[in-house]
Amino acid sequence: MQITTSRGLATRGGEIMCGIVGYVGKKDSLQLLFDGLSRLEYRGYDSSGIAFKNGSGIEVYKAPGKLKDLQKILPKPLPAITIGIGHTRWATHGAPSAANAHPHTVKGVSVVHNGIIENYRELRAELASAGHVFTSQTDTEVVPQLIARYLDRGLPIEDAIRGAIAHLRGAYALGIIHEGTPDTLFAIRNGSPLVIGIGTDAQYIASDVPALLPYTKNFIYLEDRHMAVLRSSGIDLKHIESPEPLQLEGKVVTVNWTSEMAEKQGYDHFMLKEIYEQPQGVMDTLREWIDDTNKLMEEMGIASAIKDLRRLHIAACGTSYHAGLVGRYMIEKFVRIPVAVDIASEFRYMCPIIPKGTVLITITQSGETADTLAAQREAKEKGARTLTICNAVGSTTTREADSVLYTRAGLEIGVASTKAFTAQLAALSLLGIALGTKKGKLSDLEIQTLKPFLLDLPRLIRLALQTDGAVKEIAKTLVDAKSMLYLGRGINYPIALEGALKMKELSYIHAEGYPAGEMKHGPIALIENGVPVVFLATIESLHEKILSNIEEVKARGGRIIVVTDSPAAFRDKADDMIVVPSTHPALVPFITVIPLQLLAYHVAVIKGCDVDQPRNLAKSVTVE
Ligand code: AGP
Repeated sequence: MQITTSRGLATRGGEIMCGIVGYVGKKDSLQLLFDGLSRLEYRGYDSSGIAFKNGSGIEVYKAPGKLKDLQKILPKPLPAITIGIGHTRWATHGAPSAANAHPHTVKGVSVVHNGIIENYRELRAELASAGHVFTSQTDTEVVPQLIARYLDRGLPIEDAIRGAIAHLRGAYALGIIHEGTPDTLFAIRNGSPLVIGIGTDAQYIASDVPALLPYTKNFIYLEDRHMAVLRSSGIDLKHIESPEPLQLEGKVVTVNWTSEMAEKQGYDHFMLKEIYEQPQGVMDTLREWIDDTNKLMEEMGIASAIKDLRRLHIAACGTSYHAGLVGRYMIEKFVRIPVAVDIASEFRYMCPIIPKGTVLITITQSGETADTLAAQREAKEKGARTLTICNAVGSTTTREADSVLYTRAGLEIGVASTKAFTAQLAALSLLGIALGTKKGKLSDLEIQTLKPFLLDLPRLIRLALQTDGAVKEIAKTLVDAKSMLYLGRGINYPIALEGALKMKELSYIHAEGYPAGEMKHGPIALIENGVPVVFLATIESLHEKILSNIEEVKARGGRIIVVTDSPAAFRDKADDMIVVPSTHPALVPFITVIPLQLLAYHVAVIKGCDVDQPRNLAKSVTVE
């Protein structure tokens, strides 16, 4: 069922990338819930709400728009609370409005939800025919309506919740409070991410760790079909189907991120801060394994699979997919085995051929992208060994994959992925070296030649970041561009795709990335006077080819912007040049991508676009 929202975004009903927070404790200010929501606003952001107990009942405040619009209607001063839930919404079903905002409260049961209740229409019809009155257009409201029905039948709250859940089909993370049940917050997960924050005399829930970092570093990642019953004194973990408490032991993860990491630290935007954090992210990802890639194979448990390893298959989405394309160049070069790369949303439905000896690699910053998760499950079902390259400790892909190779980019808040991308390239180069070494395809000399280049990358990326000023000047001349082309050859082709994606998702300028050699097979028809074309020319062996492609574009009036490490070769051809440092041919993507991230950033800032929260986008796409 397709529904077009007010922003013309066609999608399948339900609340799909919202932010949830919840608190139960001795006493704290409502500010806690509000701050938690603001740290989750990057997930979804067109309406929000909060509900808390005030001793005589549940008080609910909801508003369309940004959190600041909610702040306007909250009681002043903000009251102290012992229990409450909050929600930021990214509406796809039921326009952004106070009525459709969460929490949804029915007969003293208040619910916040992230995900999709796929059979909500049938449930609504059934409940409405039984006299239930709905006040919103959302799928979520069926949850408190169902719970209220079971309470009316005399069931205690926990059983009423179980009764309601049994009717639901789809993906949901739920936070629930009940007027008649003091000091108790219920959390349920089925498909959509939810974490439990463990405090001493307070417990917390949230859609993601950053919301709770100022209050705790100890978390439980709720498993699918699990329910947590939180009281200020502690937590009971249960399976949805059974009241029997489950062991907490081994479930608590300590996350060493500071809440400062979730702040902008003086940068204008999270994205710019994260662009400048790339040297550290690459170094932290490399240093974990670079001195002992054999240990990497052991740790990941694929040492034993090496001899039968016949084929690698990479599946991912968006920027992570582009990292996968770079990964193919590196791994095929270092390991000499075929690497297939597919967009996960295509992979999951193309009935992929998974011959014996296949390892499927999923690449994902969030570890929660639904299409990537489904691709991993699909391949696993078909007998592939699965390895995920992920930036989020404890996320779903990491818990379901056979092996995990973590990128260490740290918390990435800007919706447009930057530092996670270069950290993914670092992880893929490690994987290539490890597999190449194990397979005896990489000689000691080649490894000893490559390692210094890898370890020098943070310095070279810092040098590439120094093009910021020059890039900003070029950006000023691009704000009125209607379309742009990015062209690269070889391992720079995926970077042309990534540069174009960044320009699209941040500045809303239509940009396409292409292999430069493909121009004359069609895209060159787009070239007319002043059309900006960005050429990536940092692979010496391909300079000649790139020069002739530049000629083709120049002859048709295109504007030539060249990113190169050989200014002399392109000086008299380029209208603008961005000079970056040289490095090993297999590692040029680490450098070439930097000025392209900055270019998209500056064009978007000058155009007044919302850089950290671009329109129609969200940080992790948790449904297909
Ligand atoms: C990139 O800037 C976008 N945010 C988006 O394309 C993203 O890369 C894609 O949704 C994949 O996300 P993941 O890496 O968390 O799986």
